[in-house]
Amino acid sequence: MTSVTQQPAEHQLVHTDGRTARLVRLDALSLLGSLPDGSVDLVVTDPAYNGMNQHLSFGKGRIVGSYAERGDGEAWFDEFDDSPENYGAFLAEVARVLGPDRSAYFMFDSFSMLTLAPLLREHFSVKNVLTWDKVAIGMGHHFRRKSEFILYCTTGRAPLVRRDVADVWRIRRVHRSAYPTQKPTELFEAMVAASLGGNATTDTIVCDPFLGSGSSAVAALRQGCSFLGGDIAEASLDAARARVAAAFAGEVDPLQAKSLVDPLLQKAFWEDTRVAF
Ligand SMILES: C[S@@+](CC[C@H](N)C(=O)[O-])C[C@H]1O[C@@H](n2cnc3c(N)ncnc32)[C@H](O)[C@@H]1O
Repeated sequence: MTSVTQQPAEHQLVHTDGRTARLVRLDALSLLGSLPDGSVDLVVTDPAYNGMNQHLSFGKGRIVGSYAERGDGEAWFDEFDDSPENYGAFLAEVARVLGPDRSAYFMFDSFSMLTLAPLLREHFSVKNVLTWDKVAIGMGHHFRRKSEFILYCTTGRAPLVRRDVADVWRIRRVHRSAYPTQKPTELFEAMVAASLGGNATTDTIVCDPFLGSGSSAVAALRQGCSFLGGDIAEASLDAARARVAAAFAGEVDPLQAKSLVDPLLQKAFWEDTRVAF
């Protein structure tokens, strides 16, 4: 049984076992700014960098790949101002809401990693660069893209729960996703399981200030945590709310019905600590 209360700019979904998901329609900096110091246990996030568009314009000035395919030359969704100043302010807020001895995972494409990732060192101890191997090649000009990166950082002593996990994760991308740039839930589940694993409780708060379709929300809840996410797009909140409601009801994920992991290529280590709904 799940109870759901709705407000226009916020959804709060509560599972009978105490897991909660709060989904807020807010700019990332405003959401983080509204949170007390040290109120979040883990951040997993995939920001809407605009650096990718600036650097990857080819030929007729349009980027190669899915962002360009809407047809009217506009971006699929509003992009975050990822100037070093704004990105630095974002990182400072992430570090503040985490407080000491916590972890954060930041996703990067190769271009945003070159330009922005060095800023992480001003706010975090950068522990490793993880590679998301998408298994099949995608679009791209100077070599076709098959990977993205995840920087694993801490604010102090925050050892991984899992010590048996390699730094390359082979998980297929979501094809023909209903929400642009939807990532596999397994990607976020891997982050949560590696850092929290069986130590998560319903009071453990995982936060994603760039919620998108809600893959991180489903992942955190599957790992037994509660979740707080924000996004400026109404479509994001609609998608994430539908996915969380389906998860709490024990139904198939409406945006990712099947696993994107081939067990011959990737051990689904996060399944060891998955919690039933
Ligand atoms: C790369 S997508 C996230 C995709 C998500 N990880 C998923 O699996 O669906 C980035 C998201 O950031 C949102 N966004 C853009 N600017 C934002 C801002 N200033 N604050 C919060 N969200 C923003 C976009 O609406 C988009 O949903």
